Amino acid sequence: MTALDLGLIRKTARGTSHGGAAPHSLDRMTDLQIARRTVIFTVDAAGITSLVDAARQDIPGLTTNEIILSVVNHNPDTFWAIARRDRFNIAAPRGEGFLAVLPLNHEGTRRLIDGSLDTKKPELRCIARQCERPAGIYVWCIHAKGSIAAGIPLVLQKFSTPLYQGVSIYSRPVTKEGLRVLEPLGFSPGAHYDGLFAPHLQMLDRSDDLPPLKAVPRDPVTVEVVRSMEGMAQVIAVRGAVYMGEQRCPFEEEFDGNDFSATHLVCHKDGEPVGCLRIRYFAGFAKLERLAVRDEFRGEGLAKRIVGAAIELCRKKGYGVLYAHAQKRYLPFWEARGFALMGNREFVFSDFDYVEVKLEIGGHPQSITLHDDPYVIIRPEGRWDAPGVLEKSVSRGVRPAADLR
Ligand SMILES: CC(C)(COP(=O)(O)OP(=O)(O)OC[C@H]1O[C@@H](n2cnc3c(N)ncnc32)[C@H](O)[C@@H]1OP(=O)(O)O)[C@@H](O)C(=O)NCCC(=O)NCCS
Repeated sequence: MTALDLGLIRKTARGTSHGGAAPHSLDRMTDLQIARRTVIFTVDAAGITSLVDAARQDIPGLTTNEIILSVVNHNPDTFWAIARRDRFNIAAPRGEGFLAVLPLNHEGTRRLIDGSLDTKKPELRCIARQCERPAGIYVWCIHAKGSIAAGIPLVLQKFSTPLYQGVSIYSRPVTKEGLRVLEPLGFSPGAHYDGLFAPHLQMLDRSDDLPPLKAVPRDPVTVEVVRSMEGMAQVIAVRGAVYMGEQRCPFEEEFDGNDFSATHLVCHKDGEPVGCLRIRYFAGFAKLERLAVRDEFRGEGLAKRIVGAAIELCRKKGYGVLYAHAQKRYLPFWEARGFALMGNREFVFSDFDYVEVKLEIGGHPQSITLHDDPYVIIRPEGRWDAPGVLEKSVSRGVRPAADLR
């Protein structure tokens, strides 16, 4: 879906490279005399609708306004209006052309290359959210005629920020002119991703633009949600040593029947399980309990890390109140984490005296809600930022009814 001024784009791109070679970094496209005469900006739904309606006269097969709006709603970094600087008025911003992209996740980019992505009606689950690093960026639609075309490098330059660094850009020019239009910007015929190849697409290969990997010192401590029987065995081992061994807690009190209705966190240091915590959920609050760190690893801040991870997990799940029973001797530990003593109810179980503590936590900006994509909601607990195994299963499609017994 492309309508633009070919000659101007070529001129624009030539100005960016030395000796006329196609540039390979979008950074070099910014200091263009010509681009300085254009501005790019985001517009509201009405602005998008009027730009897309205007484009439809030049691009008859253009997808519907509703689909474009739903994509922009999903990720606002997908639609950029372009205008001549001398006509731009911030009080009444009016675009004269636009460029729309689809920042695709791994699944979306694979499907773009293997041809199964319907770019006229892209599924939102294939499109990365604003905070997510896409696997590939597809130039979805360009409508930029005359000098407005000079805004295209400005838009593409938006995808040079660290979030997008090294992410390749793909396009499918449908017109004959469009076939060559992006070449001066560094695009070349044929596109590849993850072992797949598509001869009909163009690609700006930016895999070389990845920043050199810095030797980041590896954190020897991890705190993870338990996801396997082995992880559960590690929790049982830590609690067996700490509560049953040290505190002489009887087995049936320590393993009280609530372990299969809870989330468990396990802390490793250099791969060795060293601590754990259990979380149980109630309608208005989550309860942190069974915090334990093996004796030989105490005093290193591990309990702080475990409680910090539990608070973060509960925030993302949408909890605003956390509750715990603190052994009285550990009250300062909980208070230092922001928990406050609740009244004066003191009680005793398993040979220790306890008090109730409570922490009110602000909601997480990305907490899971009913409005989230169903594919996000089914991701593994605590790993809601990255695609999960069930999203990968989508490529198998729906099993034909005839195959079912
Ligand atoms: C409580 C426990 C989890 C702390 O583990 P840890 O990894 O040594 O704790 P950290 O190194 O993160 O220390 C956190 C803070 O708690 C304090 N703390 C640790 N043990 C303490 C104790 N016995 N009494 C009072 N404060 C203590 C530390 O001084 C530290 O305070 P700081 O932030 O001022 O330095 C660990 O001692 C344990 O497993 N105890 C037995 C299990 C238990 O009774 N758990 C119930 C908790 S209600």
